[in-house]
Amino acid sequence: VPVLTSNTNIATNTNTPEIYNRVNNKSFPKGFLWGTATASYQVEGAVNEDGRGKSIWDTFSHIPGKIKNNENGDVACDMYHRYKEDIKLMKEMNTRSFRFSIAWPRIFPDGKGAPNLKGIDFYNRLTDELLANGIQPFATLYHWDLPQALHDKYNGWQSRETAHIFGEYAGYVANKLGDRVKHFFTMNEIRTFVELGYGNGQFAPGLKLDKKALYQVRHNAVLAHGLAVQAIRARTASGVKVGIAENLDVPVPIIETPENIKASQLAMREQNAGYLSVIMDGRYTDRFLSNAGANAPQFTGEDLKIISSPLDFVGLNIYMPSQYVEAANNPEGYRFIPFAKSQPRSTSEWQVLGPECLYWGPKNAQILWNAKEIYITENGCSGSDELTADGHVYDTDRITFMRNYLTQLQRATADNVPVKGYFYWSMMDNFEWASGYEIRFGLFYLNYKNLKRIPKASAAYFKTIALKNELV
Ligand code: NOJ
Repeated sequence: VPVLTSNTNIATNTNTPEIYNRVNNKSFPKGFLWGTATASYQVEGAVNEDGRGKSIWDTFSHIPGKIKNNENGDVACDMYHRYKEDIKLMKEMNTRSFRFSIAWPRIFPDGKGAPNLKGIDFYNRLTDELLANGIQPFATLYHWDLPQALHDKYNGWQSRETAHIFGEYAGYVANKLGDRVKHFFTMNEIRTFVELGYGNGQFAPGLKLDKKALYQVRHNAVLAHGLAVQAIRARTASGVKVGIAENLDVPVPIIETPENIKASQLAMREQNAGYLSVIMDGRYTDRFLSNAGANAPQFTGEDLKIISSPLDFVGLNIYMPSQYVEAANNPEGYRFIPFAKSQPRSTSEWQVLGPECLYWGPKNAQILWNAKEIYITENGCSGSDELTADGHVYDTDRITFMRNYLTQLQRATADNVPVKGYFYWSMMDNFEWASGYEIRFGLFYLNYKNLKRIPKASAAYFKTIALKNELV
């Protein structure tokens, strides 16, 4: 029986060997960055330490019935205390980058005002430890843990005030870390926290707003992103790059004919109209505004300029096709094809498996928006991981998932789509929001009884890919 753990049989890359620079028809471009991703509330724990304030997720997760099995992020993976051990594992896995998020309420316990220096110090230590191990830090400034104080005082993202306060916070953090962190993401998945937090109430703060109020929240959130871009630029030296990590809706052409490919591009712009499209295009599409009608958000031309402040790179979180699509003789020019009932899904039921999205997402982002630098900031698969009696997790489904998806990503890079790196979600199992700890995405299995990290077979697979910089 092969021993599929990340620490046996596979070399650990200590000094960037020749193999990284080999080019063949399976390879990724030279210097392609392999990494993993996490987010503060999902992994850190230590919610009451060193002056951290409360976030809307602390409040929400403690309301009975909101989270599967009434779990919460109080302890999570305890990365707040174990980051050194975790960075060792990242290094051993041959990853050279790590995407993490900053908990806003650790820096500003009340959302604004006096900064908490112990909070910033944690991210200083984390950054320094990463760099000491040859791992590039990629920091996300907002991965959904809004300070509760801003929700109480300003109704959170329902007000423009919060967007301005976010800009100030983003500028402050970038100023403190920007001498070492060279890549900042303003926000993670605006679409998700808006639609689930303020639309259907499944995520914090658990609101179900009417259509008009929801359009305004969407607008305030993209405005906050733009204000943060400007604040980061104003408060850092050149060489610091700014982008976003957004979950792009990727309509995939069901059959790759030129007509269907064109249709997939039209559909992609419309499906992302309130999010990445307005950020990249600097305008809401006509269809978006006419669909909204009287519910359209209030905005000015100046807002649109701020929202579309130029980015250095675009981060795409892509897990599945949003739909399959084909060309149609209708005003839209496209038609969606429903998923077959038998199309495979992962344990997160939303996650329909369709690897071509990892080709068409970046490819169409290049075509529609002329994106010059793209990162896949999240991609991954949840599974029914089981720890065997002898301490292994044989997640064959995740390996198959990764091979299929990475084949499509390699196809994109071979096609000169400027994808510069790939962050697997997630480095380890963690608090999967409303699904609690039951849904597992990690390359490392988390034993929540003793917080041990156990490499899954997929960690060995990823380690091999990261070493060779080519498909295996
Ligand atoms: C989206 C989010 O950014 C992340 O927080 C979440 O855990 C994964 N995707 C999986 O659902």
